[in-house]
Amino acid sequence: MTQRTVYVNGDYVAERDAKVSVFDRGFLLADGVYEVSSVLDGKLIDFSGHMQRLKRSAGELEMSLPWSDETLLEIHRELIRRNALEEGMVYLQLTRGSAGDRDFAYPDASTPPTLVLFTQAKALVDSRSGSEGIRVATQPDWRWTRRDIKTVQLLYPAMAKMAAKAAGADDAWLVENGMVTEGASNNAWILTHDGVLVTRELSHAILPGITRAVVLEIAAALSLDVEARAFSVAEAQSARECFVTSASSFVTPVIAIDEVMIGDGRPGDVSRRLRSAYIEESRRRAI
Ligand code: PDD
Repeated sequence: MTQRTVYVNGDYVAERDAKVSVFDRGFLLADGVYEVSSVLDGKLIDFSGHMQRLKRSAGELEMSLPWSDETLLEIHRELIRRNALEEGMVYLQLTRGSAGDRDFAYPDASTPPTLVLFTQAKALVDSRSGSEGIRVATQPDWRWTRRDIKTVQLLYPAMAKMAAKAAGADDAWLVENGMVTEGASNNAWILTHDGVLVTRELSHAILPGITRAVVLEIAAALSLDVEARAFSVAEAQSARECFVTSASSFVTPVIAIDEVMIGDGRPGDVSRRLRSAYIEESRRRAI
């Protein structure tokens, strides 16, 4: 595989030369936050939403983010340019940096944060999961209780995805007190037989998805009824359609939950319509 150019603390370097301290708090304590922004036609989509959420995540953790939106946009664009990325994602990670030792206490303000960005090429529009849908398996939601902060503590979501794959599914839906919180790395939606789109209301229980917010705008423009509330696994299994949203999957139909087929087991019309509307709108708004 060709070497990517990645960004580490002010420098653009070949990935093999990219280095972060072994004492970095992101490595030792998962003391870091991240964003994944998608790229279509070499341009960023939903960028300002991702940067707003990054600021919020850092703020909730009292982590400094001494870069303006304009500077972060320049870094994203420079990486896209240097890697000739047409379609895929830019991953950004910000950690509380390294004070040169391991300590639970936050270092003082003289310790600079660590900022790393890299690109990932991926076919986002013409993807098999997008056209054929995915199967999900439910798993208990055993993450911490501040899931609204996009931290790099992703061990449990990784375990849940592995358990879902072991059960023959493509991804996991996480469940707490009988209600679906969200997917392991996406927001969960259903369409009821009355034609109402349902996705969980924002709280500390889920990540406020940037794709979710744009799909809510599109649903309103298409005059679809929407309810922001929790739904159970049983309600989802008997729904007309189910789908997930995220920066890296856009709108992706869910065709089975724990081996129970949703509808006729094929991607639903509303899910497909929202997927193409989201792609069209994103292309229009891309910067
Ligand atoms: N995941 N919920 C969780 C737990 C997530 O990790 C994500 C995104 C979302 C969707 O958010 P957005 O629409 O802003 O991408 C919801 C990213 C893509 C990831 O971890 O790779």
